[in-house]
Amino acid sequence: SGPETARLVASRVLDVPDFPQPGVMFKDLMPLFADGAAFREVTDGIVAYHGRDSFDVVVGIEARGFVVAAAVAYAAGVGVVPVRKAGKLPRAAHSVSYALEYGEATLEVHEDAFTAGHRVLVVDDVLATGGTAEATLDLVERAGGTVTGFTVLLELAFLGARKRLAPRPVHALLTV
Ligand code: PRP
Repeated sequence: SGPETARLVASRVLDVPDFPQPGVMFKDLMPLFADGAAFREVTDGIVAYHGRDSFDVVVGIEARGFVVAAAVAYAAGVGVVPVRKAGKLPRAAHSVSYALEYGEATLEVHEDAFTAGHRVLVVDDVLATGGTAEATLDLVERAGGTVTGFTVLLELAFLGARKRLAPRPVHALLTV
């Protein structure tokens, strides 16, 4: 159930102070990925929440989002489309740049990644400021996909991503 899954995620996340820079509390989900039973439960929980037949493909966001996306796609019997950081994709790609606290980041997806009207479930490990998610949802739409769901394992509510992404719905297994 929802509260049980939230407790499971909470029990498998490590808070790492001052990573990657001083003042930042890094949320490390490696213990969740490393625990087979827990990883299976969150994976199956994501598929069940959206419904196995509600999406045609899963998008994962580099790099930790790939872990979640591959598992969810396999459990649902659909494929994975990677959204990658700039310069990694070998063929023609759409790009979206967005502001970071310091500087800029760019994400890309292959132009032919989706057939028109493909229903896309986007997944990632952590939702912080929402910049990564916003860029990814834009990319999917630019490439002809239709976003039907967006799920993260962990949402950091104080950074306000839900408001930034509105009216698009955000599903988080755990919100802190
Ligand atoms: C992390 C996380 C999300 C993003 C969330 O990825 O996996 O993709 O940041 O941050 P935001 O909501 O403020 O945009 P990171 O860029 O650290 O990449 P990695 O998965 O390759 O480590």
